[in-house]
Amino acid sequence: MRLLATPSGPLVGRVRAPGDKSISHRALILAAMAEGESEITGLLESDDVLATARAIEAFGAGVERLGEGRWRITGHGRLAQPEGVIDCGNSGTGVRLMMGAAAGYPITVVFDGDASLRKRPMGRVIEPLRRMGARFEGDRLPLVMHGGGLEAIRYVMPVASAQVKSAVLLAGCNAPGDTVVVEPARSRDHTERMLALFGARLQTEPAGAGATLTAAGGQTLRGAPIEVPGDPSSAAFALVAALITPGSEVTAEGVLLNPLRTGLFDTLVEMGADLTVSNRREAGGEAVGDLTARHSALAGVIVPEARAPAMIDEYPVLAVAAAFARGETVMRGVGELRVKESDRIALMARGLEACGVDLEEEPEGFIVRGTGAPPRGGADIETGGDHRVAMSHLVLGLAAGAPVSVDEPDMIATSFPGFVRMMRRLGGEIGETG
Ligand code: S3P
Repeated sequence: MRLLATPSGPLVGRVRAPGDKSISHRALILAAMAEGESEITGLLESDDVLATARAIEAFGAGVERLGEGRWRITGHGRLAQPEGVIDCGNSGTGVRLMMGAAAGYPITVVFDGDASLRKRPMGRVIEPLRRMGARFEGDRLPLVMHGGGLEAIRYVMPVASAQVKSAVLLAGCNAPGDTVVVEPARSRDHTERMLALFGARLQTEPAGAGATLTAAGGQTLRGAPIEVPGDPSSAAFALVAALITPGSEVTAEGVLLNPLRTGLFDTLVEMGADLTVSNRREAGGEAVGDLTARHSALAGVIVPEARAPAMIDEYPVLAVAAAFARGETVMRGVGELRVKESDRIALMARGLEACGVDLEEEPEGFIVRGTGAPPRGGADIETGGDHRVAMSHLVLGLAAGAPVSVDEPDMIATSFPGFVRMMRRLGGEIGETG
């Protein structure tokens, strides 16, 4: 089965963005490490996050679903020896954060994942965790980790990765002394915020473009209520669809506005997007607001490389916006995109080219040249099983000259099970095709 997006009329309406994926994983993992109950509301119930929920249950936490997005996790202050394999599905965040969390306990864990996750680099978390004292058999999934007996380290990260930072900090919670992580550029800080919410002592000092983080070991985390805000990375699809479809006006409610996540929105505004924020408020220790996008004439821009960590998952959908803009949009310094759920530079380049878009692929980025008119569309896209590549091309298909289909649409449920329903409610025609 494939999904087919057909050029549609204006997209109009208000939608609620699904729970943030990064925060949902963290909420489950920290709640499992903590002592006591944590009630989570707004949890993203996507395949990736459900894999993490099953994993923490295997690590001994009590896991109860109370209602839609409402979960009660009962932690016992430690992760226990699991039986069987910890299958993290498609999720890099799930596996890397759980490796860090589990490294602190005297347990042996077999981690595995799907075909995409088995190809992704794990050395970036194994290396610091090994230095702390964890032992590994294998450097890609499936692999075996022996945890416990850790020592605190000072770790200077070679890449700005929130997953690596989080893995070391979570391991550091169970290493005597201060674990210090130096990040070369600021990456999403949800782990730091949530550790504070669970009563942990953690210090953040700015250091150049990045930060030095210090976590004290031997602390007891205490269960806490967590409200998960809407995911800007998912809201992005509806908002970009509105920007490129004539006559549209779409509001996404309750979207996380943490500045370490909103690089796409800043970039779209620089491109001339009519994108406004209203009803700013706080939820779960994070800034949130409602975002309204109206159809806009977009112009190409040079995306500052320093902004990449704040929008790393949004380049696929930005490339779609760029295909509708007039002029060049230059996206460089994003070699990391090649080791996401797929090689996103290659797959977006191939897909957009098939839709008639002029672009140039570079080793660490790509340049999209739009004419200001909708691209031709009319292509069958290979998504490489990547949810964001699939959703980006479906958004393109809603506003292109001719329908666009994508393969492996089931993978959309790894991050956004309600995507098709939401786009249809706004007026987007997305249907199944052979
Ligand atoms: C994430 C961090 C990013 C991002 C991923 C989620 C997280 O990965 O691409 O989707 O929740 O920490 P890196 O940390 O590898 O850049």
